Amino acid sequence: MPSVLIIDDHAAVREALELLLSLHEIHTLTAATPAEGLAVLAREPVDVVIQDMNFSTDTTSGDEGVVLFRAIRQAYPDLPVILLTAWTRLETAVELVKSGAADYLAKPWDDAKLLTVLKNLLELAESQQAVRQHVAGQRRRLQQLRKAYDLQGLVFASDAMCRLLELACQVAHSPLPVLITGPNGAGKERIAQIVHANSAVRSGPLVAVNCGALPGELIEAELFGAEAGAFTGAAKARPGRFELADGGTLFLDEIGNLPLAGQMKLLRVLETGQFERLGSGRTRQVTVRVISATNADLRGMVQAGLFREDLFYRLNVIEVALPPLAERSEDVVPLAEHFLAGRGQLSDSARLLLPEQPWPGNVRQLKNAIERAVVLARDGVVTPELLGLSTTTAVAARCLDEPSQETIRSALQESGGVISKAAARLGLSRQALYRRLERYGMAVESGPAA
Ligand SMILES: Nc1ncnc2c1ncn2[C@@H]1O[C@H](COP(=O)(O)OP(=O)(O)O)[C@@H](O)[C@H]1O
Ligand SMILES: [Mg+2]
Repeated sequence: MPSVLIIDDHAAVREALELLLSLHEIHTLTAATPAEGLAVLAREPVDVVIQDMNFSTDTTSGDEGVVLFRAIRQAYPDLPVILLTAWTRLETAVELVKSGAADYLAKPWDDAKLLTVLKNLLELAESQQAVRQHVAGQRRRLQQLRKAYDLQGLVFASDAMCRLLELACQVAHSPLPVLITGPNGAGKERIAQIVHANSAVRSGPLVAVNCGALPGELIEAELFGAEAGAFTGAAKARPGRFELADGGTLFLDEIGNLPLAGQMKLLRVLETGQFERLGSGRTRQVTVRVISATNADLRGMVQAGLFREDLFYRLNVIEVALPPLAERSEDVVPLAEHFLAGRGQLSDSARLLLPEQPWPGNVRQLKNAIERAVVLARDGVVTPELLGLSTTTAVAARCLDEPSQETIRSALQESGGVISKAAARLGLSRQALYRRLERYGMAVESGPAA
């Protein structure tokens, strides 16, 4: 139940308001003097204050209402205050609204109007509470993840990454193969490292092979090893990556590029742990956890006969799908700051524009953009121009249309604090509005008219 503090020296006013609010399921607290009012605030949680402007108890000051308002404002900057004022003092009340009072009502007040104002404020307080809870929940979730698992310094803030890491870390301990899918530069190799770091074989080696880097026979030699003279150029016998990864993890990057012959051999190792070096009849046995990654559409490749279906199912027991950076824009500014590493700071417009970019090269592209900008920045301030962000594109135009804090605040007020309504008014999704509230620090900020 919401609670409202009424500070007024007239018992009749207090009682009338108490009765009115109790009929609308609002809990009331009352105080007859400013001092008493401040004492109640120090003691009890209150959602809204309704305060008188004239107190007859103290004759030394003609402006006790103003003094009281300032005192509340200073001690509780987030607490909405409604002023009750005589017609003769309306001007003072209007001034105070400019300096942060939520609203004012002239005495004798109109019950319906008072209730509307009050209910809007209470709803707004409630939705701000919801935003705060959302932010706090996300923070807790991040902390829990970081506490429970070794995340290898990964930087992220988005819901999508939280979910993905929860999955990746949960399956990390099992010996099951993991397939990491996602576009280039999105961080697939980083995720593979995290899976290894949280696996049962984390004290074993983590060996990486890029299946796209070598043609046909050479990639097989790379994976399975070769005896001397097995093929042209194989002067010495050498072990393959499977042997090197024994007791640990083998990371097969760009698995979609593995030729069909190699795919068949790979399937056999996955099923039996057995293989032979090229040019050798001796069967070797290893225990290796396999993580593979691809930016290709393996399902489509299976359909087209370019990738073995049986291997696909073998590798894809657990799929960890890494979204492109553009689909987790909450990660962009934290990543940019991470890559800046204290060598500079983002300008406000860079902060606004960065998350709106398409980032076709994903995190790798962002990292390179920051590295370049740091070198070019004179005073350590990284601007959109230094980052090569176009300011004439549709994206930039969208940013110029970016609702200001003021617009967001009034949309919240006009929609009675209901987030979904305010979001619709602003042409934003609920999530997008939450993001902006967070970005502007409004989630933890204050009252509506502040
Ligand atoms: N969440 C992240 N936090 C910190 N660095 C990241 C993150 N994601 C990617 N990177 C960095 O971005 C670059 C590209 O990541 P990488 O794992 O190689 O991508 P992919 O394998 O998908 O092409 C690397 O330098 C990596 O360290
Ligand atoms: Mg990679």
